[in-house]
Amino acid sequence: MLPLAATNEPPALTKADFERVAANVYRLAGIVLRTGKEDLVESRLNKRLRAKKIASFREYLDLVDRDPVELAAMVDALTTNKTAFLREPAHFDLLIDLLKNTWSSAGQIRIWSSACSTGEEPYTIAMTILHNLPHLAPRVRILATDLASHAVARSRAGEYANESLGGLPPQWLDRYFDKTPSGAFRIKSEVKRMVRFARLNLLDPWPMRGPFQVIFCRNVMIYFDKPTQLKLAGRFRELLSSDGYLLIGHSESLGSEGHALHYVKPAVYRRCKPT
Ligand SMILES: C[S@@+](CC[C@H](N)C(=O)[O-])C[C@H]1O[C@@H](n2cnc3c(N)ncnc32)[C@H](O)[C@@H]1O
Repeated sequence: MLPLAATNEPPALTKADFERVAANVYRLAGIVLRTGKEDLVESRLNKRLRAKKIASFREYLDLVDRDPVELAAMVDALTTNKTAFLREPAHFDLLIDLLKNTWSSAGQIRIWSSACSTGEEPYTIAMTILHNLPHLAPRVRILATDLASHAVARSRAGEYANESLGGLPPQWLDRYFDKTPSGAFRIKSEVKRMVRFARLNLLDPWPMRGPFQVIFCRNVMIYFDKPTQLKLAGRFRELLSSDGYLLIGHSESLGSEGHALHYVKPAVYRRCKPT
């Protein structure tokens, strides 16, 4: 076989390589990589092969088997981090409604954005509260976690390109962002201080205790199989306050069997039936 430099062709992913990648990603993160994702896996992992100066997927996957740091880097590279400010806005209307009508006199209000990607979701939660119910903001604590280290780092930096701010009202841009010399928009400290970021794999033990009034777990369950989804639903339930809500993506569903959450409406579940 010709060495990499002589062919100039990036290494090709065989079926056996794909199956090895998929088994690792499922074991570490619960993400199911279905047939059809081969090209995506090949192009994303080719970057890792180049970074490691490795010429074949087989050799790379042997490294992944030996080195937990490279395993984590591989899974990081394969996560899909698509997100947006004010994504699925009905959830933010519901949040305001609940804060006004149910938790206005609660002591501390805790919210968990459990697959926060690059931070748009937890910052939207913070800005929604600052804009609509500023008097409650000092009592709100938002925990924002994600598996992907690069996404958590970008969340912490809180800097966004102009093109990714399209969904936000112009007055929010003035109020909650500073413009950087390069023309990007940086989240102001008033918003940042409401959010604490950490890396967390939803499959691992969770270091924090409940209760949370709201858990956002949106557009990540879609990558998990049913047993993983149901197990997570049970674990989220344990961490919710008795009047707490679990919010999932609008294209996701937990079904009605195998979990003890109370269905409210599409993408909205409650820990208990309202009394
Ligand atoms: C498509 S994004 C969704 C972001 C945001 N919740 C939203 O709805 O816009 C999915 C996120 O889930 C994260 N993720 C995937 N598997 C995970 C796991 N096992 N634990 C924690 N986060 C995970 C990915 O890194 C990615 O950032």
